[in-house]
Amino acid sequence: VHLRHVKDSDYEKALALTDSLWDGRPRDARLSRVFFVQFAQVSFAFEADGDLVGLLLGLLSQTRPDEAVVHFVGVDPAFRRLGFGRRLYERFFAAAQMHGRKAVRAYAVPADREAIAFHLALGFEPLGEGALAKDTPVCPDYTGKGGHRVVLRRSVGPELEALSTSLTRAG
Ligand SMILES: CC(C)(COP(=O)(O)OP(=O)(O)OC[C@H]1O[C@@H](n2cnc3c(N)ncnc32)[C@H](O)[C@@H]1OP(=O)(O)O)[C@@H](O)C(=O)NCCC(=O)NCCS
Repeated sequence: VHLRHVKDSDYEKALALTDSLWDGRPRDARLSRVFFVQFAQVSFAFEADGDLVGLLLGLLSQTRPDEAVVHFVGVDPAFRRLGFGRRLYERFFAAAQMHGRKAVRAYAVPADREAIAFHLALGFEPLGEGALAKDTPVCPDYTGKGGHRVVLRRSVGPELEALSTSLTRAG
């Protein structure tokens, strides 16, 4: 299993991965090829035996020049709770910092308590002033009517400088 930047030819494999994420239940996780072509500098994949078993698609915000944003993160169910999600994020934090970003923003469906727990474990904090869903602030209609989202944010601080330096040296 190895961690690397995404590439254009990953696109079909990424669709196969998203199909497996929620036990075959349909979810609005349609991915655009644009991430694999245009945002590869800050998007990462775990590959195992030619398949993608983990994926993080990120971007460098244009409107918030100090922020990077996670558009999608997912790990194959057979590879969960092994630290793959954390390692994808650590690589992304380092890349964000290398590009001068001071914080990372991510989004989660309010009912998705596991995804929220994962982000809280990684040091994210929920933002938003909307109605409370259980104990988590929610931004209502964020992705259109009924598309509520928890918005999470985390600083990328100096503790990542060492990792960032070693990744720069490794190219
Ligand atoms: C969320 C997801 C990416 C986590 O990936 P993962 O590789 O299993 O996560 P990690 O093993 O790196 O977990 C890191 C920490 O996050 C927390 N965490 C991860 N999954 C969790 C869960 N299901 N419930 C509670 N906490 C969880 C734990 O603290 C964990 O550390 P630990 O295993 O030492 O206790 C994965 O479950 C997934 O793909 N889910 C479906 C897609 C999804 O919901 N994506 C996020 C959309 S916002």
